[in-house]
Amino acid sequence: MLMAHVVPAGCQVQVETGRGRVLAAAGLGAGRVAAVAGLLVGRQAHRRLRRVHGPRRNLRALLTSEFHFLPMDLFISKVMPVARGPLKFFNPRNRREGGRENSKITFVTESKGDGGCDVDRMKINSLTINSKKYLSLTVEYIQLALQYKPLNLGQGFPDYYAPENVTNALAAVAKSDNPLMQQYTRGFGHPRLVNAIAKFYSKLINRDLDPNKEVLVTAGAYEALYSSLQGHTNLGDEWIIIEPFFDCYVPMVQSAGGIPRYIALKPKSTSGTVTSGDWVFDRKEMESLFNEKTKGIIINTPHNPIGKVFTLDELQFIANLTKKWNVLVISDEVYEHIVYEPYKHIRIATLPGMYERTITIGSAGKTFSVTGWKIGWAYGPANLLYNLQVVHQNSVYTCTTPTQEAVAIGFELEMERLEQPDCYFRSLAMELLPKRDYMAKFLREVGMVPTIPEGGYFMLANWSALENKVKLHEETDENKDYRFTKWMTKNVGLQGIPPTAFYGPEHKTLAEDYVRYCFIKKDENLKAAAKILKKWVS
Ligand SMILES: Cc1ncc(COP(=O)(O)O)c(C=O)c1O
Repeated sequence: MLMAHVVPAGCQVQVETGRGRVLAAAGLGAGRVAAVAGLLVGRQAHRRLRRVHGPRRNLRALLTSEFHFLPMDLFISKVMPVARGPLKFFNPRNRREGGRENSKITFVTESKGDGGCDVDRMKINSLTINSKKYLSLTVEYIQLALQYKPLNLGQGFPDYYAPENVTNALAAVAKSDNPLMQQYTRGFGHPRLVNAIAKFYSKLINRDLDPNKEVLVTAGAYEALYSSLQGHTNLGDEWIIIEPFFDCYVPMVQSAGGIPRYIALKPKSTSGTVTSGDWVFDRKEMESLFNEKTKGIIINTPHNPIGKVFTLDELQFIANLTKKWNVLVISDEVYEHIVYEPYKHIRIATLPGMYERTITIGSAGKTFSVTGWKIGWAYGPANLLYNLQVVHQNSVYTCTTPTQEAVAIGFELEMERLEQPDCYFRSLAMELLPKRDYMAKFLREVGMVPTIPEGGYFMLANWSALENKVKLHEETDENKDYRFTKWMTKNVGLQGIPPTAFYGPEHKTLAEDYVRYCFIKKDENLKAAAKILKKWVS
């Protein structure tokens, strides 16, 4: 029988589940949503927590009777699933069920918890959650594009057709005579897809991957990142993040209770021909970031937004530090097949002693140019993937069946023609190379200094020589690159992305003179972009 009563201070709840009591509280800490949870657990709840989450360090933290700061999503993914029976949450300010509009957490209604703990309704003060701070850059810039309708070179996806073999496969799956193709599939990955992924990467990393334990299919690489960080972060753990970074890394680390530690890639030169290889990290600085609180490092190669393909020497240096400090690597390799000759993508998991500590992340969206399908994956040792499975199971649970089947078919075809030039994993970079070179040329012609990427499909360009042509004072954002990109969107009709969004608070000034453009766009649109810029500067 459920009993819940309000405990004073903040929005705290105490829930008796019949198997023990969970005392939790939710409130706002330091401008971000946080939940304070302390557990006073009876033996059974204790045992169940262990069964569900395993004997992990963050679980031990939860199991003390002290209060801990927990992010809201950690609370939902880790505490809620183990409390069987209905949960009632109360707003103590109101002292009755239902809450009050202006309180921080308005209310969470009772859930029907016979086998789980679905939250029927959760209303969190909209002012807090919807504040600009929590909206990703992409969300803000999509809105801007909708309003001003510029030529959009901001977002990272093709504006032309995806390869026919995968779209045909999806069409065939939709009409398949197997009715199960339209129903739920295995939660940790559709069997045909995990088999294909395991077979493909087993070959690439020269190790037999177990499709059921060493591969997890996720809702895009995004969810693989989220499940990795959520599943492997204890409160106060530090993650080393290389700037510029894909913008979700930081909020994901923070929402898991971790602390980002930043190190910036800096260009060795800023004039003449600059390539992404010129952007390097300082090795002493990198070394100094590792300490006993370090949980791991997130690397991204080929890199967004710089296009850097990390060298063997750089990866070896990072690998040695992770082994020295016995920490994890999350290797975001979503652009693994988009590498321009003569550069080669190196998987850090293949370096000696690294598979054991590495979670490698891939994306069907980037691999097959179908970003709208939102299928991604993580592979790595079973003990590391287990934590991701727990988070995935309690959040997404299972990804869409037809898209997984179609991606599996795509993999199977490419595996057959891996050594041939028409293999998509080869032809995509060949198709993009002239686009890259064309963009670099027109950016130079208008006075920008592009960084020529070795991989990926983004180009960073320094626009400082054009500063006198932009009325930066007409925009109000703190960072110059935001003002530049917004002003350009509104007045010139070309949209790029401000790269300071990819930096922590201390290093934003490093990127203020840059803009990121994406070149996986139709030739006619790249030509139109060149025309817009040339007309503007003339
Ligand atoms: C570096 C990086 N990682 C992850 C992702 C997310 O990939 P997905 O669309 O598969 O979620 C992106 C998307 O742009 C990216 O650039």
